[in-house]
Amino acid sequence: MAKQYQALFLVLSICYLFSPDLTAATAATAGSGASKEAVNFIQSSCKTTTYPAVCLHSLSAYANAIQTSPKRLAETALNVTLSRAQSTKLFVSRLTRFKGLKKREVEAIKDCVEEINDTIDRLTKSVQEMKLCGNAKNQDQFSFHMSNAQTWTSAALTDENTCSDGFSGRYMDGRIKNSVRARIVNTGQETSNALSLINAYAKKY
Ligand SMILES: *[C@@H]1O[C@H](CO)[C@@H](O)[C@H](O)[C@H]1NC(C)=O
Ligand SMILES: *[C@@H]1O[C@H](CO)[C@@H](O)[C@H](O)[C@H]1NC(C)=O
Repeated sequence: MAKQYQALFLVLSICYLFSPDLTAATAATAGSGASKEAVNFIQSSCKTTTYPAVCLHSLSAYANAIQTSPKRLAETALNVTLSRAQSTKLFVSRLTRFKGLKKREVEAIKDCVEEINDTIDRLTKSVQEMKLCGNAKNQDQFSFHMSNAQTWTSAALTDENTCSDGFSGRYMDGRIKNSVRARIVNTGQETSNALSLINAYAKKY
């Protein structure tokens, strides 16, 4: 393995080790004053999603803001997913800066960044539609914007799947590939959870 890769992998590992720690620390601080009722609400709602542990991990920090509101739960899940996608994009785009990458590797990274970019675009549109849902003056307006939010979130999910396919080639360094894939898989799981919480909110309205 080339020296550059080793250095790159070290940097990535350090970044990767530190970011969940920071998230956990924030969660502990923000979650400590949350009511049991709010935490229970998030727990039981997360149980209905496909990735309950991921759901709980990313949302419990916001228990105070969410309380027992399905609307705030769905919105927060979507907002958290959007910022996760933004940090994934930053992470993947930084990979291109390292010397010694093969042309095909650079191409795969660029393609991936473009796909994450599309994901961010779709999630941003969904966030906007959710906001319009909140301002809806009647059931028709609500249903219209809700349906748009659902469509954009599903579209974001489809995008993330194709990004990990692009990294499946044998030419990509195994550890880089795995660290990128882990983040994309995580973003995809959060998107899937956000979609099911949005659907649950839509049904309750
Ligand atoms: C989600 O993000 C949007 C746009 O930044 C913001 O207006 C909204 O208040 C946020 N919602 C929650 C529940 O944090
Ligand atoms: C990402 O999207 C924005 C607008 O949606 C665009 O201006 C930018 O060039 C895109 N970047 C990449 C790397 O595709």
